[in-house]
Amino acid sequence: MQSQSERAFLYSRLCEMEQDIAASTDTDQLLGRITACAREITNSESASILLLDEEQGDLFFKETLGELGESIKKVRVPLDTASIAGSAFSSRRPAISNKASEDPRHFKGVDQVTAIPTRSVLAVPIIWGERIFGVLEAINKIDGGFSEADQEVLTVLANHAAVVLYNVGLIEQLQNFFVHTIEILIAALESVEPGSQGHVIRVSRMTSRLARELGILGKDYEVLYYAAYFHDIGKLMLGTSVVARNDKRHPQFGSDMLERIKVLEKTAPLVRHHHERWDGSGFPDHLVGASTPLATRILALAEDYDESWMDRPTEQDLPDFLVDFLGRSHGRHDPDLLKLLGRVVSQDAGFELEDQT
Ligand SMILES: [Fe+2]
Ligand SMILES: [Fe+2]
Repeated sequence: MQSQSERAFLYSRLCEMEQDIAASTDTDQLLGRITACAREITNSESASILLLDEEQGDLFFKETLGELGESIKKVRVPLDTASIAGSAFSSRRPAISNKASEDPRHFKGVDQVTAIPTRSVLAVPIIWGERIFGVLEAINKIDGGFSEADQEVLTVLANHAAVVLYNVGLIEQLQNFFVHTIEILIAALESVEPGSQGHVIRVSRMTSRLARELGILGKDYEVLYYAAYFHDIGKLMLGTSVVARNDKRHPQFGSDMLERIKVLEKTAPLVRHHHERWDGSGFPDHLVGASTPLATRILALAEDYDESWMDRPTEQDLPDFLVDFLGRSHGRHDPDLLKLLGRVVSQDAGFELEDQT
């Protein structure tokens, strides 16, 4: 039986650890912290998170801390009553065994790999609503056997693990949705504009290439990358064919579409201005020079470069095309960016570009 002061200490330590856990956003780090916390608070030799392998129908060690070592990660733990963790999983209830060697559920595969005899095990299921992800387990309590208080603490931590794992699933689903929706939108866009196949991908690649050369990183890079992907998305509002290609309303339409999507709202101004030109001859706002942000100037140049290539009636070799493009673009694009474009295109294709100054 625990004294009140022991209980108070345990819960204050648990609260401290919860704050520590909450300070991380990385999934593996979070699960690692939960495992460390489980080991410390239950005063055990080791603690592990085992997750369900749906294909194989058993549990594998996702995280483990303490005496067991890395070799444990090769071990697969059976479900049902063939292991203590498995029985906690299958019954969806905590399982305690303070005399593991005499417990028929004890799975000896772990002891064989680690060469550490298992004396005691406490396993609690990691559950979120209807879903069960796996088991949080503490092994070999240092001072005596596992108690109900240990079980309570481990259940709180297993609930944290469940939230983390549930969120990972949601994020994966959202990423999957996002990536495939982009593919569908781009395919739709290219189908309404004959001859534009590959334009979006090429513009994205060139935009990324220029951005990296200029040291644009992190969130700014991400915004620019997605703006390149969606730069012509407004054309979907214009229906089909040739008219759409030259319709000057598409940057505004695209920007209006994107600013309603929270994760893409920062791309909206870039999309709005992807046809602006350094000399003010662009549209829709006739921005001049550096009044257009650098990211937008990069996108505008990458887009114009690819658009010019697409418009060529016959294929010419790249050096001639590049020299011609740079000459025609003089004044229409940021001169420093034009030089950079000339350098990266010639470098990547392996030819010398005459000095354009
Ligand atoms: Fe475009
Ligand atoms: Fe455009």
